[in-house]
Amino acid sequence: MQIHQFERGLQDRIAIVTGAAVGNGRAFCERLAQEGAIIVIADIADASDTLKAIQDVGGTAISLHVDVTSPDDVQMMVEKTIEKFGRIDILVHNVGIYEEEPFELISYEQWQRMMNVNLNGLFLAVKAVLPAMKERSFGRIIALSSDTVWLGTPYLVHYVTTKMGVIGFVRSLSSEVGKYGITANAITVGLTAIQRMESGSRVSSSILEHILPAQSVQRADEPEDIANVVAFLALPASGIINGQTINVDGGVARH
Ligand SMILES: NC(=O)c1ccc[n+]([C@@H]2O[C@H](COP(=O)([O-])OP(=O)(O)OC[C@H]3O[C@@H](n4cnc5c(N)ncnc54)[C@H](O)[C@@H]3O)[C@@H](O)[C@H]2O)c1
Repeated sequence: MQIHQFERGLQDRIAIVTGAAVGNGRAFCERLAQEGAIIVIADIADASDTLKAIQDVGGTAISLHVDVTSPDDVQMMVEKTIEKFGRIDILVHNVGIYEEEPFELISYEQWQRMMNVNLNGLFLAVKAVLPAMKERSFGRIIALSSDTVWLGTPYLVHYVTTKMGVIGFVRSLSSEVGKYGITANAITVGLTAIQRMESGSRVSSSILEHILPAQSVQRADEPEDIANVVAFLALPASGIINGQTINVDGGVARH
C-alpha cells in the first residue's frame, strides 16, 4: 500500500503509543517512526514484534510494561519517558477493549471493566502527560474512538458509551489546553482489517463482505489508513485542529 510521506515532519518528536503490542497501535508506531518520531510503546502485552517493526523502518523505540488502568504504571510510563528522552510531544491513546453482548446480558462487572480500561485509562494517561506538554508549550493528544458511536451499533452499549465518552473528553479538554499549544482530537475508526478473531486470524472475509456494501469506498479499512490520520494530527502544522473527531471508516457513517 502506498503511504503518503510528510517528509519526516515528526523528526525527534517523542511519542507515547498505548496498546501498541498488536493491531492498529503497531501500525501507528511504524507510521510515526517513519516520520522521525521516537516511540515509547506502553502495553500489558509483550511488544517485541512492534519494536522490530519500528526498527525495520529505521526508527527508535522502547517498550514499557504499562497497565493504563494503574495510576502507578502510568506515572512510571511518564517518568521513564522523561528520564530517557527528556520530553513528551505526542500521546496516542489507543488502548481499548471491545466485546459484543446484548444489553440485558451485560453484567455490572463487565460495564465497570469497559469504563475502567476505555475511559479511566484515558483519564490517567492524559493527566500524567499534560504537565510535560505544558512545560514545553506543545502537545498532541490523539484518542481512539469508534464509528459505532455514529451508527448506534447494537450489542455494544457499554463499548459505545465509552467511545462517545472519548469524544466528550477531547472536546472539553481541548477548550482548556489549546492555549498551551496542546491539541486533543479523536478518531472514530471503522472495522479495520486487523480486527482479530478468537482464532487469532485477521478479520474474516465474511465480516468484511458484510461491511463493504455499507462503505462508500469499496476496499477494506486498513490500520495504515488510520495511521495516516494519526500522523497528520500529530504534526506541528496541525496545531490549529483542536477538539475535533475525524471519522475514518471507508464512508460508512456520514454525519
Ligand atoms: N480494530 C477495529 O476494527 C477497531 C474499530 C473501531 C475502533 N477501534 C479502536 O481502536 C483501538 C485499537 O483497536 P485494536 O483492534 O487495534 O485493539 P487490539 O485489541 O488489537 O489491541 C489492543 C492492545 O491494547 C492492549 N491493552 C489492553 N488492555 C490494556 C491495558 N489495560 N493497559 C495497556 N494495554 C492494554 C492489548 O494488550 C493490545 O496490545 C481501540 O481503542 C479500539 O476500540 C478498533
